[in-house]
Amino acid sequence: MQIAIDGPASAGKSTVAKLVAKKLDYIYCDTGAMYRAVTYAALKQGVQLDDDVALKKMLTQFDLKFIPADPEQLVIVNGEDITKQIRFPEITNQVSLVSAQPSVREKMTKRQQEIASAGAIVMDGRDIGTTVLPQAEVKIFLVASVHERAVRRYKENISKGIETSMQTLEDEIKARDYKDSHREISPLTQASDAILLDTTSLNITQVVEKILKFIHEKE
Ligand code: C5P
Repeated sequence: MQIAIDGPASAGKSTVAKLVAKKLDYIYCDTGAMYRAVTYAALKQGVQLDDDVALKKMLTQFDLKFIPADPEQLVIVNGEDITKQIRFPEITNQVSLVSAQPSVREKMTKRQQEIASAGAIVMDGRDIGTTVLPQAEVKIFLVASVHERAVRRYKENISKGIETSMQTLEDEIKARDYKDSHREISPLTQASDAILLDTTSLNITQVVEKILKFIHEKE
């Protein structure tokens, strides 16, 4: 089975997708990490983030690997472990510009479809149910209020030693959602056959249980 989990920034997609995959013994693929890795490489190599031609060229020498590890899989680009760096605010606040570029979307979508062809998978992102795996048997669109998402991001940041005010986080989340929802190619949108799940007042265990229930109903 293919499980697509989409939704806006900081809605808890990766956390629950990872747990659902573990529970079912499925492959897990974090597509946001792929766009973050491209953004990191572009910044490092001085490639302009909205220069589609330069990004396309850069991607010909872009060796991305996910290595299973605990508590999170390692993200390796051209031999460099950038697992932590791709979560820095510098990347988070610029990734939407890179992910809107046609050649980046084309290349990542292809790669994601290859990963999914390996077997049962839980994949999270923005366009999995609409573009990457439109045939997925279960599609979830995970949402939560902006305030709740900022609270979650605030706590996550603190645990990583990153200090950003709640107001800034709310503004950043709104700005990223706007950009991801208004880009031309594969904008963030709920697939017509996706189940809408509002997690504002739910904890992680409750969300995972609900998703597992949807999956079992499809079996
Ligand atoms: O999920 P995460 O917050 O890590 O995603 C980072 C960014 O990558 C998103 O804001 C979006 O611009 C981009 N993205 C995308 N399509 C996906 C997954 C992520 O455009 N399938």
